[in-house]
Formats: sequence, C-alpha cells, structure tokens
Amino acid sequence: MSILIRDIKELVQVDETGRRFVAGKEMSELKTIKDAWLFMKDGLIHSYGPMSELDMNAFENEDSLTELDATGRMVFPTFCDSHTHLVYPASREIEYIDKIKGLSYEEIAKRGGGILNSAKKISEVSEDELFESAMERLDEIMYMGTGAVEIKSGYGLTVESELKMLRVIKRLKEAHPITIKSTFLGAHAVPPEYKADQTKYVDLVINEMIPRVAADDLADYIDVFCDKGFFTVEDTDRILNAGMKYGLRPKIHANELDYSGGIQVGVKYNALSVDHLEFTGKEEIEALLNSETMPTVLPGAAFFLGMVYAPIREMIDAGLPVALASDFNPGSSPSGNMQFILSMGSIAYKMIPEEGIHSTTINSAYAMGVDETLGTITVGKKANVYITDEIPTYEYMPYYYGSNKVAKVIINGEIK
Ligand code: NIG
Ligand code: FE
Repeated sequence: MSILIRDIKELVQVDETGRRFVAGKEMSELKTIKDAWLFMKDGLIHSYGPMSELDMNAFENEDSLTELDATGRMVFPTFCDSHTHLVYPASREIEYIDKIKGLSYEEIAKRGGGILNSAKKISEVSEDELFESAMERLDEIMYMGTGAVEIKSGYGLTVESELKMLRVIKRLKEAHPITIKSTFLGAHAVPPEYKADQTKYVDLVINEMIPRVAADDLADYIDVFCDKGFFTVEDTDRILNAGMKYGLRPKIHANELDYSGGIQVGVKYNALSVDHLEFTGKEEIEALLNSETMPTVLPGAAFFLGMVYAPIREMIDAGLPVALASDFNPGSSPSGNMQFILSMGSIAYKMIPEEGIHSTTINSAYAMGVDETLGTITVGKKANVYITDEIPTYEYMPYYYGSNKVAKVIINGEIK
C-alpha cells in the first residue's frame, strides 16, 4: 500500500537535520516546500520534493498506488499530544459550574471534587467501558490531526484501580492506530483515607504500585503532581528515585499552582518533560537550560481554569525549547483539540505560528519520547500526516481558531 500526495500547496515542517527538538531562536524558523509531493510506502515517509522534480516513472512498479490531489491544501505532520488523561470514567461538568461560580481548583479539590471525584467513580466503571469511551476520544482527536498521544493513569489511586487504568491504556495501544505512550501517575492526588498520613500513601506508591506496574510492563513513564496542596518535593524525590530503579523516566506535573520546586526535582531526575509551568521564574529557567528536559505548557488547562499563563516568551528568549500539549482530562481541560492548542499558543502566549508548529510537533514528540519516528516530515519516519482544507497560508492554522481545518488524516500510511 502506498500513497502519493501531489500538488501540495505547501509541505510543512520538513526536516532532514536529525535534530531531536528545536530551541530558542531556531523555533521561529520553519522549513517548508511549496508546490510539493509526498510519497508514503509501507507505513513510512518514503520521499518528497517539489512538483518540478516529480518523476512519475519512479512509481511505475507500485501495484497499489493511491494518488491524492492536494491542490490548494497543505500537508503537516500530525500533532503529538504529549500530556493527556484521556482514560477517565465520567465527565465533570457539575464541578465546572462550581468553577464558574468562583471556586478555585484547590477549593474544589478540598471538597472532594476534582481528581478525587474521578477516582471515586473509576471503581464503578468496567475496564471495557473505560476502553470503549477512550477509543471514542482517540478517534475524535485523530480526526482533528493528532497522530500520537501520551495517556496517564492517576484516576485510580489504589493499587488495583491504577493497574486497571494502565491495562486499559495497554489495550488502547494495541487497538488504536495512533501511537500511544503510557504514564503511571499514582501520585496524582492523596486519597482521603491517607490525608492524615500522606507519607503512607507515598509508601504505597513506591512499595506496591511501582513494582506491580513495572512487573507487568504497564508504563513507559512515571509522573507525580508536584505542587502546592498535592505532593511535596520530598515525596517527588522519593517516588522518582523508586521509579528510576525500574527504568521509568519521569514526566512530571510541576509549578502549576506555585513555585513548587517541581521543575528542579524533575531536572534532577532527568525528566523527559516537566509540564504546566505557570510558575516559572529565573531559577527554573536556569535549571532547564542545558538539561534534557522539555518544558511543556498546557494552554487548555490554564485557559479553562483561568490561571496565569506560563512565561513562554521568556523561556524561548532564554534559549529553551517549549512543547505544547492538550492535557485532555475531565476536570481542567475537557478538550483534546490540538488545533485549538496551537491557536492558544499564539493568542495567549504570543508564540509566532512557526514556534507554535514546532511546539506541537517535533518538540512535543520529544516530550513523549517519539521524536525518532514522529514530529516532522522526514524520510523514514512514520507516515502520520494530515491534509488541510484549502487554506491561504500555514499561519492560517493558528489564526482561524476554533474550527477544524483538517480534511484528511493519514496514519501509518493509511487514510482514516
Ligand atoms: O493536569 N494538574 C493535575 N492534574 C490534571 C487535572 C486532572 C483533573 O482535574 O482531573 C491536570 O490539569
Ligand atoms: Fe495533567
């Protein structure tokens, strides 16, 4: 099976440099080919170039070649969404009303809402139901242009329920065509029965959950919500240390609610990413420079919760890379639409379109450990691309916000 897309108005995010992410000033430069073709074969990007150099003889021996005419349309690599909680038992619009009425995220959490609300419901929902509803969400995001997604546990908060969530993610990996990475987030919130003794819950995560997760090979990464009112730097240090012994690299929630020290402890354990980052100052930027940790901002959550926005401009101007992800979850970001996240990068964080495109493709691919196979139009990478509607410029993608501009999605070289 092979596909040739021809007469592409602009082929965007072409990269043969082998770089793993894009940082600082380089984020404002984007390589594209105008009036291009792209050939995909056996699930991979095989070749591409300008139409002036297209030689149809090269495809003579392709027995099942599908030709697509992309006149007026552009082709992008699919989005990589490096931070989601898209396996969950039920929506939480009731607490959203509390939020509208003025209760803060922390107040809602204290009243047993928020993450604990989802954790309570998860035991009432079967593994099959969790799987089916997550499959629908995966289809939804795929048709909006997402070709890779990271999914966390963290609505279980007991050994059994955490394992249940991770088993569901494992099934999703096998059942859904988009690339999926899974993250164990046992330390997402402290269950009420441990409120008086948080250390005892951290002990449970370390002594029982992590070994079971590792034994069944259920997670690629480990996460901790290291923030005010949730897990301390000391808790995080202990959990990441334990995870490291099982080869689980951290990707952590940090500095969403305060200067929590989360960024620093993440860097200390060579986290693949530190995520949220609303409270990022000079010290945090300093810690991230020269690290291998991708600073990841989640515009959907900050927007939905009415938080302060992470200082992305300062971060990029200091020379850092930045990734953007959706944080798709029922509490703080009930949307997995990466086109909207791209727009938010420009609207709320003043990223220029080139920066936004890097942050949602190559940089977010790095942030979930798939940069070798996804995130750019590169020979040999997975043929995960989307074809847009007829659009005037690539800048139009963040500009024309709120509507779907993805016309066709190709995953592993197959039209969806
Ligand atoms: O990334 N910040 C912590 N965790 C999630 C919230 C999940 C929820 O409210 O259910 C987040 O925003
Ligand atoms: Fe999150």
